[in-house]
Amino acid sequence: MPALMGARLKKGDIMKKKTALVTGASSGIGAVFARELAREGYTVTCVARSQDKLQGLVKELGSGHRILVADLADSIQLQTVAADVESSGYSLLVNNAGYGIYGRFEEVSFERQEHLMTVNMNALVRLSHAFLKKAASGDALINVSSTLSLLTYPGGAVYAATKAFVTTFTESLWYENKDRGVYVMALLPGLTDTNFNAVAAAGRPVPAQTMRSYPPKVVVKKAMAALKAGKAPSIISGPLYRFLTFLNTRLMSRKKMITIMGKGSSGLRK
Ligand SMILES: NC(=O)c1ccc[n+]([C@@H]2O[C@H](COP(=O)([O-])OP(=O)(O)OC[C@H]3O[C@@H](n4cnc5c(N)ncnc54)[C@H](OP(=O)(O)O)[C@@H]3O)[C@@H](O)[C@H]2O)c1
Repeated sequence: MPALMGARLKKGDIMKKKTALVTGASSGIGAVFARELAREGYTVTCVARSQDKLQGLVKELGSGHRILVADLADSIQLQTVAADVESSGYSLLVNNAGYGIYGRFEEVSFERQEHLMTVNMNALVRLSHAFLKKAASGDALINVSSTLSLLTYPGGAVYAATKAFVTTFTESLWYENKDRGVYVMALLPGLTDTNFNAVAAAGRPVPAQTMRSYPPKVVVKKAMAALKAGKAPSIISGPLYRFLTFLNTRLMSRKKMITIMGKGSSGLRK
């Protein structure tokens, strides 16, 4: 008698169809994630506000992929995405949507800072919850944070704080979920060539980058390798940023590190 006949199968025992939902898929790191996941055989649901960009992307990916147009700062639209995550049983969720705001804290309106916190933290927690409630062994969650989460960022104080939240939140979830075979990982990119800088400048002149910026493909390649290995609670992409984070967090005083970050900050440059 075949070993499996009559045996009670657990959800994770069956070869599950690879399906993924990627937020912030209309540009930058999220769009590259969607392309790479499709290439790896995932059926991808792409989420963002820009319908045209999402439609263009899905056309490029080929048949079977879908879009979900949603503003994750809007509680009703966020609820729609959360309901989709709960009912669809994705094998991978990539919480990538996010943005930054450059400027001195008191000079940026509270409403803009609150909006930033809603997108970068609230939406990510809501969707992580919807996903993990239904996740089975073999499923995975990637939350996109930033190397700034381990540092400090004068000129982007609330942004760096939201990412510190994402990293510690996600690392706790890594521990909570590892014994049930669900891999949770925080991805901490360094500077990456996307629309991030222009969005953070919000109409002001876009500050020139003084540090090396990596193509999003480098970030996603590193993330995909980590996903396959399924071990690390968090990873930093870009060799320069792995080195600098080590230097700044292990070998320097906090005061020195904060001063260096402040002096080099794009967010404080006039
Ligand atoms: N680029 C960097 O240097 C860097 C470094 C470290 C971490 N990161 C992180 O990487 C992630 C991706 O950013 P990126 O660099 O790829 O920038 P990007 O090119 O500006 O992409 C941001 C994505 O987030 C989506 N998004 C923003 N607000 C949204 C909202 N309210 N609802 C739904 N989607 C929303 C955008 O889509 P729509 O505008 O179409 O809604 C877009 O697809 C972010 O979490 C960012 O903090 C970036």
